[in-house]
Amino acid sequence: MDDVNRPQQAGDSHRVTTTGDIEVSTYLEIARELGGEQPVLSTEAAPEREAVVVLDFGSQYSMLIARRVRECQVYCELLSYDAPWERVASLNPRGFILSGGPASVYEPGAPLAPSYVYENHLPVLGICYGMQVITQQLGGQVSPGTKNEYGHAVLHLSDVNSPLFAGLPPSSPVWMSHGDRIERMPPGFTALAYTENSPVAVMGNGRGIFGLQFHPEVVHTAEGKAVLKNFLFRICGCKGNWTVGNFINDSIASTKQQVGEGRVISALSGGVDSAVTTTIIHRAIGDQLTCIFVNNGLLRREEVERTFNTFRLNLGMNVVYVDAAQRFLDRLRGVVDPEMKRKVIGEEFIRVFEEQASQIGKVDFLAQGTLYPDVIESTSSVSRASAKIKSHHNVGGLPARMTLRLLEPLRFLFKDEVRQVGLGLGLPEDMVWRQPFPGPGLAIRIIGEVTGEKLEILRSADWIVMNEIKKAKLYRQLWQSFAILTDVKSVGVMGDYRTYGYLVAVRAVTSEDAMTADWARLPYDLLARISSRIVNEVPGVNRVVYDITSKPPSTIEWE
Ligand code: XMP
Repeated sequence: MDDVNRPQQAGDSHRVTTTGDIEVSTYLEIARELGGEQPVLSTEAAPEREAVVVLDFGSQYSMLIARRVRECQVYCELLSYDAPWERVASLNPRGFILSGGPASVYEPGAPLAPSYVYENHLPVLGICYGMQVITQQLGGQVSPGTKNEYGHAVLHLSDVNSPLFAGLPPSSPVWMSHGDRIERMPPGFTALAYTENSPVAVMGNGRGIFGLQFHPEVVHTAEGKAVLKNFLFRICGCKGNWTVGNFINDSIASTKQQVGEGRVISALSGGVDSAVTTTIIHRAIGDQLTCIFVNNGLLRREEVERTFNTFRLNLGMNVVYVDAAQRFLDRLRGVVDPEMKRKVIGEEFIRVFEEQASQIGKVDFLAQGTLYPDVIESTSSVSRASAKIKSHHNVGGLPARMTLRLLEPLRFLFKDEVRQVGLGLGLPEDMVWRQPFPGPGLAIRIIGEVTGEKLEILRSADWIVMNEIKKAKLYRQLWQSFAILTDVKSVGVMGDYRTYGYLVAVRAVTSEDAMTADWARLPYDLLARISSRIVNEVPGVNRVVYDITSKPPSTIEWE
């Protein structure tokens, strides 16, 4: 068993798939409710199609493995460990990676690799639990270790000539995380490297099957990327043709083919996913696409103008702008419960969207910025806490009036790839690098009832946070940074006067995927500037605090 692979606590990751774009959190649900089909974006047109398949045994790092492989420009999909061969074969696999996982291979019912993994004579790389799977299935023995090996270790190569180690120094730091150990290697395997506590830290059989006891996908393993690259290029013989340029060309071509003469609607949110989705579709089918941009009154300062200008004026898209700010505010009157806010906002959004869509005439497709993590989570059969997410992204109770097919050109992309594609499409940098912003917007950053006055206060404070963070050149390094308007009022003094004003909280976090997050150690002088600007420039606020909790146990948003 890998210690890092123990299931996360339920609720830990309840919002993990969110990319901050409203369509991910709401449209996916809409389309499902409306019976939309799941189109598959073909990568067939790519020159010499190749892929490496990661079979997922439930590790929290599985997705990271797939991302790392993609970073090497090799197309990779993460499939459940029991994926049928037909699904795997359709990708034209050049090799397999078996992920880590929480089980112990010697326990009854432990997940094992399907026979095709070994029958096709393709290279296999087992990582942690994956290595134990190989050991068990090919005739070796795995047993409970006497002590867990968790954290840093030093890997020493015993076979420096192994192709897996090309270019590696004789010793390098690795990240270990396992309880079980390889008692006896399967016949034909030799130990290629060791650590102080693991005599078999790497094994191989000279015929392309390898096992790693450490995690090459995490940054703590200094040579992890080099090991993965060696596996992909030297052992699997990959060419590395998964590039932004190829992706853009392919997806434009396949969107054209899929849509034909049909009409597409899309919701613009200003977020990077919707921006890239609509831009690809627009490139493919031009004015057959209509974008609907709903101003729900819960957006940040200048967001509305910027989004509208970029898409309508700069990119020349067909954009229908709807100012529904007052409608949303009316619906939110008296609502204080965070989940209720989400429900009200989701429902109102659908109402507005439907009203607009019905005026466009016949529509065939709904564009959606679904990303690969959403796809993995909704299809993975391995139990993950993250599969139970989304309850509050679900708008619920949708009227099934539109029958639309889904158009999801980013369905196979990770967030960082979406950004690269955005840059490749020539989208403005500030749009491409925009931090995630939740669909319910500022409403869930105002504790208690949302009012026009509070929205204005929060917008002003948030604007200062964002500008100062950008000026300090920290914006891109942070996953999110923003202000929260609490419902606490406290006493202060300004000049000779006593004040009684709002408390604003500032939140800035670093994160890889929003599943976990750490509060950012912002420089004190930056915090001081933010604080002093907020109390001086935002009427009604006389105190600022900085949130120093990580996730878990807190969440990124306050509501
Ligand atoms: P939490 O607060 O759960 O947030 O740590 C994780 C990520 O999800 C975003 N978030 C949302 N996005 N609708 C969205 O579209 C929502 O209701 C929602 N709630 C949280 C949050 O900004 C962070 O990126």
